[in-house]
Amino acid sequence: MAVEPPLYLDACAAAPPAEPVIAAMLAAYQGAWANPSSLHGFGFAAADRLERSRQSIAAALGFPASWLTFCSGGTEASHGALLGAAAQLPKGRLVISAVEHPAVQAAARQLEAQGWELAIWPVDGVGRVEMACLDRLLAPPTRLVSVLWGQSEVGTLQPIETIGAACRRAGVLFHSDAVQVLGHQPLEIEALPVDLLTFTAHKIQGPRGIGALVARPDLALGAWIGGGGQEAGRRGGTEAVSLAAGFAAAIQLAQARLKASGGRDPLEPERDRLLAALEPLAGVTFTGCRQRRLPHHLSLLLTSPSGTPLPGRQVVSHLWQRGLAVSSGTACSSGRASGSPVLGAMGYPPEQAGSGLRISLGPWLTPSQLDSLPARVSAALVAVQTELT
Ligand SMILES: Cc1ncc(COP(=O)(O)O)c(C=O)c1O
Repeated sequence: MAVEPPLYLDACAAAPPAEPVIAAMLAAYQGAWANPSSLHGFGFAAADRLERSRQSIAAALGFPASWLTFCSGGTEASHGALLGAAAQLPKGRLVISAVEHPAVQAAARQLEAQGWELAIWPVDGVGRVEMACLDRLLAPPTRLVSVLWGQSEVGTLQPIETIGAACRRAGVLFHSDAVQVLGHQPLEIEALPVDLLTFTAHKIQGPRGIGALVARPDLALGAWIGGGGQEAGRRGGTEAVSLAAGFAAAIQLAQARLKASGGRDPLEPERDRLLAALEPLAGVTFTGCRQRRLPHHLSLLLTSPSGTPLPGRQVVSHLWQRGLAVSSGTACSSGRASGSPVLGAMGYPPEQAGSGLRISLGPWLTPSQLDSLPARVSAALVAVQTELT
């Protein structure tokens, strides 16, 4: 009997590279392998390939190509945004939400060590920033705000446009980490009231090791990596032409999918169907915001029938034994004994904050493959309960 391959349901951690992405990277490596700064035909070909990738990404996402700085990924882009912007500003207050990715938290701590005041914007029980705090948080000496657009662990979307408009009125710079949103909703970046946006390629079936910081041109953004003056002097280092080509190809694929389904992520109805089948199971509780959430994302809290929290990592391991690759929270927080800081910030007590489960879908899955999921989750929960008693 043929053994079924495991199902990959961890798109928010990384997504398997798509065939056209690999083909675009191979073509760029073969035809445009030279240093884009070289002043000969080989170099010109590489520079041309790089700029065509930049233009393709910018056109797909609705902003001028000169706004895009390629870098190594989301972590670097967020460091570039915060450290690069702060370098041009007088010291003041930086506001970040309580559910930021560790990359933004780390950059914020660096600024705090340099003398910036750091304020944490609290969230409610579904992970949305408390809008009642907005005016107080934007008052002087606030100069910079960073709020994650789509939360990777609980899927909640923040009201980016409202926050950005308020930042504009207050004369405060606004950065958003849009890593999880990219490819899952149409974006018209030039029209957004956002000054800096972080992206990465590997969550949308692009290559690992490339991302982008998109910055408005009126920002005199400082260099965050010095060197040979590449990327308009902001980010030194010979450009990864082939990775940029793969990134552009991944964005084209995602855009085509969105366009074909009228601007909505076709994964959303599958996610909703799955949620409707999982929620009635004993010991399963939904987390995050129902109405405003990432369309491919589902997050749950797991307990025994008597309400005892089940260790998320143990559930993940039992699900893997049943052919499902999922995660308990983010890849970055999955090693913490104290549970998820995100669930903690949302008000879950420590004993529950280690019981999260995240299922994130991608276009490589077919609807029928998801049919067996609820039964496998049920079986894994029973197995963990048995192990614990
Ligand atoms: C919301 C968010 N921001 C930033 C990152 C970091 O991106 P990268 O792995 O490209 O550095 C991730 C990846 O886990 C993420 O989920």
